[in-house]
Amino acid sequence: MTVAAVLLAAGSGSRVGAGVNKVLLPVCGDAVVTHALRTALGIAEITRIVLVVRDGDQREVADAIVPWLGEREVVLAIGGQTRHASETAALAALRDDILGGTVDVVAIHDAARPFATAALWRAVIEAARTHGGALPGLAMPGLIRRDVASAGADVVERDLVGVQTPQAFWAPDLLEAYDRAAADEFSGTDTAACLARYTEVRTRVIDGDARNIKVTFAEDLPLADALARRDAPA
Ligand code: CTP
Ligand code: MG
Repeated sequence: MTVAAVLLAAGSGSRVGAGVNKVLLPVCGDAVVTHALRTALGIAEITRIVLVVRDGDQREVADAIVPWLGEREVVLAIGGQTRHASETAALAALRDDILGGTVDVVAIHDAARPFATAALWRAVIEAARTHGGALPGLAMPGLIRRDVASAGADVVERDLVGVQTPQAFWAPDLLEAYDRAAADEFSGTDTAACLARYTEVRTRVIDGDARNIKVTFAEDLPLADALARRDAPA
C-alpha cells in the first residue's frame, strides 16, 4: 500500500498581494512550491504526487519544479475556485488508484507551507494509518474568542491549536467524504471538518512545528527567507 501526496497550489495569494501567485514567489532562491515539493519527493513512502495548480500557472509551476523531478512523475491537476474544490480536483486524479486499492493514505499539504519537514509528513502519515486521520496542531496559548472578549470575562482558551498541513487520511474515507460533499454541494475550508461531517473518521491532532509557517501575508516572506537560510547547508 502506498501514500499519495496532494500539494495545493491553486490559490491566488491575494493577501500577499504580489503580481503572481504566492506559491511562485522565491524563498532563498527557490519558489515556495519548490520547497514544498522537494520534501515530498524525498519521502520514499510517497509514490504518487498530485500538484494542484491554478489555470494559467501551469508553465511557471512546471519551470519551478521540473529541475527537481529526476525520474519522478508529478501529476498536475487544475484547481477550482476554493481550496475544497482544488482538493476535489486532486481526488479526481487519484480516484482510480484509491478505488483500486493501490493508494491507502492521502496526505494533503498547502504548497504555501515551504518548511513542513519530512519527519512531520511521516508522523501524520503514520498517525493517519492508525487513526484514520491526522493533522499537525500548534499550541496557541492565550487565544481568546472575540465574542467573549468583548463580554469582559476571563476566558482565555487553553486547549486551542493552530491547524497546519500536511494532513493525512485513509484514502477511501477521504474520497467518500468529498463525493458526499459534492452531492450535497457542501464546500468547507477544512479537510478534517469535511471528514467529520461525512464519515466516522475522527482526526487526531499530532504535534505541529513552529517553523512550518504558511506564507499568507507579504511580511511572511522575509521570515521565510530567514528560516530557509538558517536551515540551508553551510
Ligand atoms: N488553494 C488552492 N485552491 C484554491 C485556494 C487555495 O489550491 N482555490 C491553496 C493555496 O494555493 C494554498 C493553500 O490552499 O497553498 C492555502 O490557502 P491560502 O493560504 O488561503 O492561499 P490563497 O488562497 O492562495 O491566498 P489568499 O487567501 O490570500 O488569496
Ligand atoms: Mg485563500
